[in-house]
Amino acid sequence: MTGGEAVWRHVPVLLEEVLSGLSVRQGGVYLDGTIGMGGHSLQILERYEGTRVIGLDRDPAVLEAASRRLAGYGERVLLFHRDFGHLDEAIEEAGVDCVDGVLLDLGVSSMQLEDADRGFSFSRNGPLDMRMDPGSGVKASEIVNTWSKEDLANLFYRYGEEKRSRAIASAIVREREKAPLTTTVQLADLISRVPGMSRVKNIHPATRTFQALRIEVNEELDALKQAIPISIRYLAPGGRLAIISFHSLEDRIIKRTFRELENPCECPREFPQCRCGRVSAGRVVTRRPVTPGPGEIEANPRSRSAKLRIFEKGREKEEGERGKG
Ligand SMILES: C[S@@+](CC[C@H](N)C(=O)[O-])C[C@H]1O[C@@H](n2cnc3c(N)ncnc32)[C@H](O)[C@@H]1O
Repeated sequence: MTGGEAVWRHVPVLLEEVLSGLSVRQGGVYLDGTIGMGGHSLQILERYEGTRVIGLDRDPAVLEAASRRLAGYGERVLLFHRDFGHLDEAIEEAGVDCVDGVLLDLGVSSMQLEDADRGFSFSRNGPLDMRMDPGSGVKASEIVNTWSKEDLANLFYRYGEEKRSRAIASAIVREREKAPLTTTVQLADLISRVPGMSRVKNIHPATRTFQALRIEVNEELDALKQAIPISIRYLAPGGRLAIISFHSLEDRIIKRTFRELENPCECPREFPQCRCGRVSAGRVVTRRPVTPGPGEIEANPRSRSAKLRIFEKGREKEEGERGKG
């Protein structure tokens, strides 16, 4: 595990935009589904009197660090080692009926990336692991060394949007015939040597393949798809869900799901009135995603691909209204 230095260097992405997007208010209860280093939550607790935070993370080491960092807020903070796909369990265990806001800041934290032993980074040599929760699931090395060439190629294409997916899968299968691939740098170097793989705009050629493996290892998209409707169910009327994503696969899911929640009516356009009876869950607050400005990108280059989208749950009087636009 990296030391305290990495913890304090962590900068929360789109912080001001998240606080105003969630309309944080004094005395409110907020669920942070990805507590990480507690960067966003610390500001909620610090700036808004009487707020409470229910914090989740699937990584026990990260949760431990967050718990130390937020210890000063005592009973205002309740932390759970939990996948946010099951955030309903945490809300119920916390003994509250609903929350005023939910935040999901997707992906891995700097602490995880900087710890070579976790296997997330192609530039720091470590075991090919990539599990956010080291206590469960399949390691990246198992996928790389056991999946068929076709399955690997499909994975890299689907979750990494990698154009050279077939060539990379072939190179992996050839290499593992000699000996299993066990480390991050071994895999990253192998990908760099695949014909046609060169650094574009200073982006490492292994970036997309590593992304695909991480998504598969942690079943990241499934957790996201599960968490959106559950969050809306547990929001108080007028409460908000804020999600920060870092790649187009996640952003597409969020955009589409928010749109469907706002307007779930399935009736043909020519119907003068809705007959399917599906009602809107609320409204999309951000027609376009909120992105960091040049100052934030310069100060924190990892924020460059961040996109924030916000959904507001309908108030009672709006519920039952037809969502069709
Ligand atoms: C980008 S960091 C969050 C940083 C945090 N907002 C901050 O400011 O310190 C993402 C965190 O979410 C956690 N995480 C990712 N997917 C998760 C999931 N499905 N359930 C719970 N935690 C998850 C990761 O372990 C990581 O610690």
